[in-house]
Amino acid sequence: MKFFIDTANLASIHEAMAMGVLDGVTTNPSLLAAEGRRDTEALLKEICAVVQGPVSGEVIATDATGMIAEGRRLAKLSEHLVVKIPTTLDGLKATRALADDGIAVNATLCFSASQALLVAKAGAAYVSPFVGRLDDVSEEGMDLIEDIVQIYGNYDFDTEVLVASIRHPRHVVQAALLGADVATIPPKVIRQLVAHPLTDRGLDAFLADWRKLQGERS
Ligand code: E4P
Repeated sequence: MKFFIDTANLASIHEAMAMGVLDGVTTNPSLLAAEGRRDTEALLKEICAVVQGPVSGEVIATDATGMIAEGRRLAKLSEHLVVKIPTTLDGLKATRALADDGIAVNATLCFSASQALLVAKAGAAYVSPFVGRLDDVSEEGMDLIEDIVQIYGNYDFDTEVLVASIRHPRHVVQAALLGADVATIPPKVIRQLVAHPLTDRGLDAFLADWRKLQGERS
């Protein structure tokens, strides 16, 4: 399973890389806006240079022609840039055109199995079902992951299932149990994944015993 980090914050990206677990990055217009930099394409380029793996940058256009032009421009920023396209009718047309150009597309804002089926047929490299936002409206986000993994498996689609809108460590574990290809995880949740109170308590006890031994020797 690949781990992407869901942020445009360079410090958080460096921190996750130092943990040795990072395969890529996803951004969206809100995450880029949170960094307060107007040179968003320069920031995306910097992120690609640091990560040397797939980095999703989203188009702002909502019509197919605009998405295709923007996607082609974004793809020129780096060989690692993956163009994020919203899962709409125009998005499908843009996905097919960009995929035919050999550009990797991440179909974002996916909330149904039918949408996931369509973007795979249109040639998307990744589909991003938003599990947290489905949970927010009293649906079971992980049920959608299960459906998509099964559908893609039935037909050997190459599109990778990228679990997005992750809110807590349990989402990551559930995604792994279901065989999702990628989880894109917010920085806070990446830190939570490694934390366990029994690990901290156990380490404290080991070190206390060790210090006691050293005290007895002196
Ligand atoms: C993923 O690509 C999206 O940017 C992200 O996971 C959305 O998460 P949110 O629902 O917490 O905003």
